[in-house]
Amino acid sequence: MRLRSRHLLGLEGVTKAEIQLILDTAESFKSVMERPIPKVPTLRGMTIVNLFFEPSTRTRISFELAEKRLSADIVNFSASSSSVLKGETLKDTAQNIEAMKIDMVVIRHSAPGASLFLSRNLKSNIINAGDGAHEHPTQALLDMMTLGEELGSLEDLRVLIVGDIAHSRVARSNIYGLLTMGARVSVCGPPTLLPVEVEELGAEVYYNLDEALEQADVVNVLRIQLERQGKGLFPSIREYREQFGITTERLKRFGRNFVIMHPGPMNRGVEIDSDVADSGNSVILHQVTNGVAVRMAVLYLLSGVDSKGL
Ligand code: CP
Repeated sequence: MRLRSRHLLGLEGVTKAEIQLILDTAESFKSVMERPIPKVPTLRGMTIVNLFFEPSTRTRISFELAEKRLSADIVNFSASSSSVLKGETLKDTAQNIEAMKIDMVVIRHSAPGASLFLSRNLKSNIINAGDGAHEHPTQALLDMMTLGEELGSLEDLRVLIVGDIAHSRVARSNIYGLLTMGARVSVCGPPTLLPVEVEELGAEVYYNLDEALEQADVVNVLRIQLERQGKGLFPSIREYREQFGITTERLKRFGRNFVIMHPGPMNRGVEIDSDVADSGNSVILHQVTNGVAVRMAVLYLLSGVDSKGL
């Protein structure tokens, strides 16, 4: 079986069988990562450009490691040291890089639709590494891989996403992916951070965190985007923490364990307390580890090469 598209722009419209294929392939690559020499020749001879127009720690390093472990040649582009500063457009930048004979582009950009735009203007395979508030498909895939490993099955799993849903590409991709895989998804946050269309996507909406937690097995905590504080979306950080912060004190009241996730970067003491983030119920670093395997799987499946060395 193969993926239907030669690009990964989002999880909207990606089928259950395709997601399962990516997750199964990622498990095979995870065993490669545990070998003494964690490298296979699968993408030898291919050139991949990592086009990052926004800051990133996990996604950028994770893609770079995945590409190196697949033996691809890689080029890292950073907007802050490029001719973008002289006014070059995204289309010109990307087409000039492609003229140097590349095969795949991984792009992070602040504009929703940036990866779709490249897929229409380049011949290379395009992977969306986060486009504005739209989608972050590899994050949702690594989240699903982690939940599958932790809990066995995604079917009927009750996943609660807490925080700034309106500006979150992670939330959107998780909602698409988890619902496709048969999980039940709910979201919770202040009304100003919950877009109306989220209910239309099939997620249950809560404004009260205790009511939402009552119905959850897994809590995926989103970063409060402090750069948006001051825009009146919630009264204060202190009030946000009181109403929506994931604290040990709050979780203890339920007398059972929740699986705790966070895509990072975390604001410790704001959306999540340190003792929750570092507790035995937290799978945050497990998510990061799985990110490399998921990105190896996506790169391999989109490349169209045969499974040399898997
Ligand atoms: N989860 C995530 O996208 O983190 P980075 O912004 O560090 O890549």
